[in-house]
Amino acid sequence: MHLLDVDYARSQFPALKTGFIYGGSQVAVNVADRIYEYLLHHNVQFGADYSVSVESTRRVMEDAPEAAMKLFNAQSRDEIVFGASSTINLENLARGMDGAIQTGDEFIITREHEANAGPWKRLALRRGAVVKYWTPTPINPNNPYSVVYKVEELLPLITAKTRILAFTACSNILGTILPIKDIVQAVRTAAKEKGTKKLEISVDCVAYAPHRRIDVRDWDIDFCVFSFYKVYGPHISALYVRLSSLHDSVAAITHHFLKVDKKSYKLQPGGPGYELVYGTTGVLPYLLSLTPENDLQASFDAIAAHEQKLVQPLLAFLTAPKQIERGVRIVGAENAGVTRVPTISFIVVGERATKSSDIVKVFDKKGGIGIRFGHFYAYSLIDELEPKIDVDDGVVRISLVHYNTVEEVERIIEILKEALE
Ligand SMILES: Cc1ncc(COP(=O)(O)O)c(C=O)c1O
Repeated sequence: MHLLDVDYARSQFPALKTGFIYGGSQVAVNVADRIYEYLLHHNVQFGADYSVSVESTRRVMEDAPEAAMKLFNAQSRDEIVFGASSTINLENLARGMDGAIQTGDEFIITREHEANAGPWKRLALRRGAVVKYWTPTPINPNNPYSVVYKVEELLPLITAKTRILAFTACSNILGTILPIKDIVQAVRTAAKEKGTKKLEISVDCVAYAPHRRIDVRDWDIDFCVFSFYKVYGPHISALYVRLSSLHDSVAAITHHFLKVDKKSYKLQPGGPGYELVYGTTGVLPYLLSLTPENDLQASFDAIAAHEQKLVQPLLAFLTAPKQIERGVRIVGAENAGVTRVPTISFIVVGERATKSSDIVKVFDKKGGIGIRFGHFYAYSLIDELEPKIDVDDGVVRISLVHYNTVEEVERIIEILKEALE
C-alpha cells in the first residue's frame, strides 16, 4: 500500500496555505478550475444543435453522471441524480415514492442526520406507514454515550411488512463506519425468512464519503446519497437510485411533458446548477491522483491509513484517565481502528461539567481553527442519548480529513488542554 503524500494533497487546496485548520472538506483546485471554465466558456442552454450547446450538454449530462457513477460504483449513469443537497435529493426520492407505499408498510430508520430520516417520516405520514427506530447502544459500560449501531438491535425489528430501511453509513457525530455489506446481507436474509415482499434500503453516505470508498453494488443497496461539498467538490449532491427501483418504485416528479421514461431525470425537477454539476467531475481525478495506482480503492486505503494517525492521538488524549476524571465523555466509539474516522465528538459532564459552547469559545478566542459545537442536524440522535444532554449545546465536534496533519492534531490537543483546565 502507498502512503498518502499529505504535502501533495495539501497543495491541491489553496485555502490551506494560510495555515488555518479547516474542520472539513475544502474544494480541490481542479474542481474550482472546471467551474470557472464552464461558467466562462460553456454557460449556454442544453439540447441545442450548435457546437457549444452540444459540448455543454455532454459535460453535464454525460461526463458528470459518468464520474459520479464511478464514485458510487453504480451500474449505469442513468442511476445518478444530481440535486442541490443530499437533504433535497432524499426528499425528492421520498416524494417520487408516494405511489409505491401502502398503508401499514413499515419503515425502519435511524435517528441520525435528519436528511435520511425526515423524508421517510413524512412519506410514512402521507401514506399511513409505520416508523420504527433502530437505536444505538453503548459499548463501554462506563460511558453511556459510547454508542454504536449494532445489527442485533436491528434484526428483531424486521417483519413481513418491512418496506424501507434507512440508515447512515457513518454518523456525522459518532464517527463509526457501519459494516454495510454485512448489515444488508443479514437484513435481506431476515426479510426473506419473514416473507417480506419488497424491501428497499437507503444508505446516507454524506459523512462516510470523504473517508472510505462507496460501493453500492457490493453492498446491494437501492438508494445512496453523498454531498460533493464534503468530498473536496462544490455544494451539490449526488443520489444513486438502483435502475429497478427507478423503474418500479419511483414516479416522475418533473413536468408532465418531459420524456423521462425510467431515467434518473424523474427525480431532477428543475436542473441543479450546471456549473456545479460539471465541477463534480474534478473530484474523481483528485482522488485518483493521491496514489500512483490510479485506483479509487488504493486512494481510500491511503486516506484511511493516514486518518488513523489523526484519530489515535485525539482519542488517546480524550480518553486518558485525567480527562475521564475531568468529565470528558466521547460520544461514539472510544477506540481508534479501521472503522473509526476522524470525526470525534465529546461532552464534559460531572462536577465540573462544561458546556460544549464554552469549550469551543476557547478555540475561537485562539483563532486559526474551525471547530463547532451543537447537534449538527443529528438532533434526534443527541436528543435520545441518556443521561440527557442539552441538544442545542450538543457536542464539541472535531472533524478532520486526510489533508489534516499530525502537527495540527497536536495543536488541537494543546488548546483542548487549556479548555479543560
Ligand atoms: C450524515 C449526513 N447526512 C446528510 C447530510 C446533509 O447533507 P446536505 O447538507 O447535502 O443536505 C449531512 C450534512 O452534514 C450529514 O453529515
